[in-house]
Amino acid sequence: MSTKSGGLIRPVAIAGTGKYLPEKVLTNEDLQRMVDTSDEWITERTGIKRRRIAAEHEATSDLAVRAALDALENAGVAAADLDLIIVATVTPDMAFPATACFVQKAIGAPKATCFDVSAACAGFLYGMELARQFIASGAAQKALVIGADKLSGIIDWTDRNTCVLFGDGAGAAVLQPATEDSSEILSAYSGSNGNLDEILNVPGGGSRLPLTAENLGAKLNTMKMAGREVYRHAVQTMMSAAREAIDRAGLTPDDISCFIPHQANLRIIETIAQKLQVSMDRFFVNLTEYGNTSAAAVAIALDEAQRSGRVKRGDHILMVVFGGGLTWASSVVRW
Ligand code: UT7
Repeated sequence: MSTKSGGLIRPVAIAGTGKYLPEKVLTNEDLQRMVDTSDEWITERTGIKRRRIAAEHEATSDLAVRAALDALENAGVAAADLDLIIVATVTPDMAFPATACFVQKAIGAPKATCFDVSAACAGFLYGMELARQFIASGAAQKALVIGADKLSGIIDWTDRNTCVLFGDGAGAAVLQPATEDSSEILSAYSGSNGNLDEILNVPGGGSRLPLTAENLGAKLNTMKMAGREVYRHAVQTMMSAAREAIDRAGLTPDDISCFIPHQANLRIIETIAQKLQVSMDRFFVNLTEYGNTSAAAVAIALDEAQRSGRVKRGDHILMVVFGGGLTWASSVVRW
């Protein structure tokens, strides 16, 4: 159920990162006026205070393009030089073409092979590992990986169990072969468990339950989640994925200066910190501001961690993610 990777031919670097958050802010106080909830409940149970919501006219690729341009500038790489664009999303602009193709068109990357990855909140690290393998094998030189989701479009805004948790956004990274003084991706790990598909999904809108008037009436086009069960699996799988990536990099948790976990719930992150016996100040947390932005979350966090100086050249960082599928992934990078 999980992949092992290692023994690749050439080392790969993260050359730059970027992000985009839509302007509109939805606060816990706003949500109090929409459903039977309170700022106190949301803050205590999740740590979330605010989230960003995309404008009606903004599609996922619009968010992705803004993050992509930010990452390309940060990396000093021209869009025209990209060989590969991967977008991780569960909210594509349309069934096809891939959202990555819309990004290609918007940024001008005619050489790039473009496709999407569907691994829910774990998608960005799935995409990063694919890009790493393309580059490590010599099949590509420069790759753009984007995690982007407009979850506000698949949320049931009358369901307090889910609507308080999520937000919209995009994060991106540019990958290329490592050099002596660049960063280097040291390890990667991923896994899935399709037996647990039902605890977190959007049942309608695909070939199984098409969007008929009846299915729309039953809101089958919106996210369904068994929160407590998801919580339990999130803690377990992120814990073991974190350990696995650290192990594969030949390191121990003490060697990691910055832990960048999926931004779903502060309590999940605190439990993982406790179990790894790592103090919370080594964990990067921004869910207070953005909620859970699905595939974008860890990418946005990586960008903010490196631009704010939380991550410095030579530091070891660990990214670990978890999402519907179930899916999970982790990676250690020497920055
Ligand atoms: O990206 C991965 C996807 N998702 C996650 O990682 C989410 C994982 N799960 C969680 O983060 C937590 O399970 C939640 C935040 C979703 C819920 O927290 P919880 O502590 O597990 O609460 P609960 O589901 O056990 O519900 C406790 C109570 C229930 O009331 P009763 O049955 O005890 O009377 C809920 O109905 O809290 C109630 N509740 C709320 N109350 C006020 C649920 N949502 C809300 C709400 N406001 N928004």
